[in-house]
Amino acid sequence: MTVHFIGAGPGAPDLLTLRGRDLIAACPVCLYAGSLVPEAVLAHCPKGARIVNTAPLDLDAIIAEIAAAHEAGQDVARLHSGDLSVWSAMGEQLRRLDALGISYDVTPGVPSFAAAAAALATELTVPEIAQSVVLTRTQGRASPMPAGESLCNFAATGATLALHLSVGQLEKVQTDLLPHYGADCPVAVVYRASWPDQRVIRCALGDLTQAVDDSISRTALILVGPALGAGLTAESQLYSAEYDRRYRPQSADSPWAEWQHGDD
Ligand SMILES: C[S@@+](CC[C@H](N)C(=O)[O-])C[C@H]1O[C@@H](n2cnc3c(N)ncnc32)[C@H](O)[C@@H]1O
Repeated sequence: MTVHFIGAGPGAPDLLTLRGRDLIAACPVCLYAGSLVPEAVLAHCPKGARIVNTAPLDLDAIIAEIAAAHEAGQDVARLHSGDLSVWSAMGEQLRRLDALGISYDVTPGVPSFAAAAAALATELTVPEIAQSVVLTRTQGRASPMPAGESLCNFAATGATLALHLSVGQLEKVQTDLLPHYGADCPVAVVYRASWPDQRVIRCALGDLTQAVDDSISRTALILVGPALGAGLTAESQLYSAEYDRRYRPQSADSPWAEWQHGDD
C-alpha cells in the first residue's frame, strides 16, 4: 500500500501530469485539498472510490483516513494544489507516515507561479534585467516569516518576486517594495490562474493598492519586477547565430566541435 502525493496543478483540470492522472485512476481512495483542487480532477477517480475533501479536517483526521486505507491495503491518491514543494503542508503528513511505517511517493504538479506567468505569456527571467525568481509570501496569521526573509531583503536583490498568499496585504507589499523597485516598476496580479474566471491586472507598483479591488481577496499571485515590463529587448544567447555552443559549434576550433550527441 502506498500513499501517492500528487500535485494537482493550479486549477485547470487538464494541467495535471499524465502520471498524476494515472495514479488517481488507480487508487481506490482519494483525499483532496478541496479549497483549491478543482473537482473536475476527481473525475479520474475509479468508480466507487472513497473521495474525501480534507479542507475541513485536521491533521489527525487526515492521517486516520490514510491509516484506515493502509489497514485495508488500499492505495491513496493525496491531492494538493499546484506543486507539492511549496506551501502544501505535505511535510508534516510525511513525518506522520514515516512514524507509522506507511510508504509514499511524490508526483510533481504545475505550480501556480508558472500558471500565472503563462497567463501573462511572459518570462520571469530576462537577460541582464532579472535572472532570479523569488517565490515568497508575506507573513500570515499562522506563519511568522523567518528573520532574514523580509520583502525588503528580497526586494534589495531586484529579482522578480512571486508573492503568494499576500493579496490581502497589498499596502504592506507596496510600502516594502517601493523604496527598492520604484513607483513605475511593473506589477501583475493574476487571480485564479488557469481557472475559467481567471483575471489579470497589470499596473505600476505605485498604483497597486488602487488597481486591485476587494473582489480579489485570495487565490492570487502578485508578480513584481522589471522583467514584467513591456518593450524589453534583451535576448538570451541561446539562439544567437554567433553563440558557440555544444549543439551548434561555430568553428572547427570550437571546444564543442568534437562533441557528439550522447557524450554527456
Ligand atoms: C497554499 S498556497 C499553495 C501553492 C501551491 N502549492 C503552488 O504550487 O502554487 C496557495 C497560494 O498559492 C497561490 N495560488 C494557488 N493557486 C493559484 C492560482 N490558480 N492562481 C493564482 N494564485 C494561485 C495564491 O497565492 C494562494 O494564496
